[in-house]
Amino acid sequence: MRTLLLGGAGMLGADLRRTLGRKVEAPASSELDIRDGAAVEAAAEGFDLVVNAAAYTRVDDAETHEDVAHAINALGAENAARAAASAGARFVQLSTDYVFDGRADEPYREDAALNPLSAYGRTKADGERRVLATHPDPYIVRTAWLYGAGGPSFPRTMLTLAAKNETVDVVDDQVGQPTWTMDVARLISALIEANAPGGVYHATNAGSASWFVFARELFLRAGLDPERVRPTTSAAFVRPAPRPAFSVLGHDGWTRAALHLPRPWRDALDEAFADGVFADLLTEGVR
Ligand SMILES: NC(=O)c1ccc[n+]([C@@H]2O[C@H](COP(=O)([O-])OP(=O)(O)OC[C@H]3O[C@@H](n4cnc5c(N)ncnc54)[C@H](OP(=O)(O)O)[C@@H]3O)[C@@H](O)[C@H]2O)c1
Repeated sequence: MRTLLLGGAGMLGADLRRTLGRKVEAPASSELDIRDGAAVEAAAEGFDLVVNAAAYTRVDDAETHEDVAHAINALGAENAARAAASAGARFVQLSTDYVFDGRADEPYREDAALNPLSAYGRTKADGERRVLATHPDPYIVRTAWLYGAGGPSFPRTMLTLAAKNETVDVVDDQVGQPTWTMDVARLISALIEANAPGGVYHATNAGSASWFVFARELFLRAGLDPERVRPTTSAAFVRPAPRPAFSVLGHDGWTRAALHLPRPWRDALDEAFADGVFADLLTEGVR
């Protein structure tokens, strides 16, 4: 299967390159900008699968640059979906928990109503709608709370802060699903290998935790005293873009498609540590 991977240089893209097989082409954003519809259409010709992991991901900056974020996350996604449809290729669009408002108290089903709180969330939700209107049978794969080998992520921030500070205050009133990029990449590859039905899938690790609980688990695995992590509230940590308070996504899509369910987040975190995802940060300085 010939695969065109958009956003292949990103944090998730790096792991998708590892799982999607040998026939993956992943042009850099400087070579192929997804805002250029004609260029994306020409690039997708002859491919069997197009995966769009390209996005404007600076959530706080999107509040003041929603037009740029929209051009990439909504119009760019539509371009990619159209290009895949013209090529007769299957299409995977990456999306996010930020399409929801976080006011639920049970896991969001795949068909739950979208109600984004932030500019980033609005652009990603519009991307989903445009993809569904453009490609005959796309996969919309929502993920959340990602960490991986490259790129900025919460664990990398925590381990960096641990090297500089005796204690770290972390919010305990936002709950989500810490998720390893490799697990998302494997779940997407499983969808493709099984030729699963199109639709919405939630590719997050199972279980849930607050950022505070996640940080303590990171400290433990890094050989640091978890008591150095102290709980605080979102009110003490105001940022430009509002965050959903409850970001737990349901996994029924995998069951309906008769595929393996995502594994618990602590198991994925164990393997990520063993795999050396944070090796560059686990120096004497951190301890
Ligand atoms: N990180 C998370 O916690 C998280 C959570 C939920 C959902 N997601 C979604 O998961 C997907 C992957 O996220 P990520 O964390 O891997 O993002 P990332 O590390 O920021 O990577 C994004 C990639 O998109 C590329 N890109 C940006 N604008 C582009 C354009 N106009 N044309 C072509 N490529 C462009 C970037 O290239 P350059 O670096 O060259 O600009 C980069 O390679 C995205 O759809 C994101 O919305 C992420």
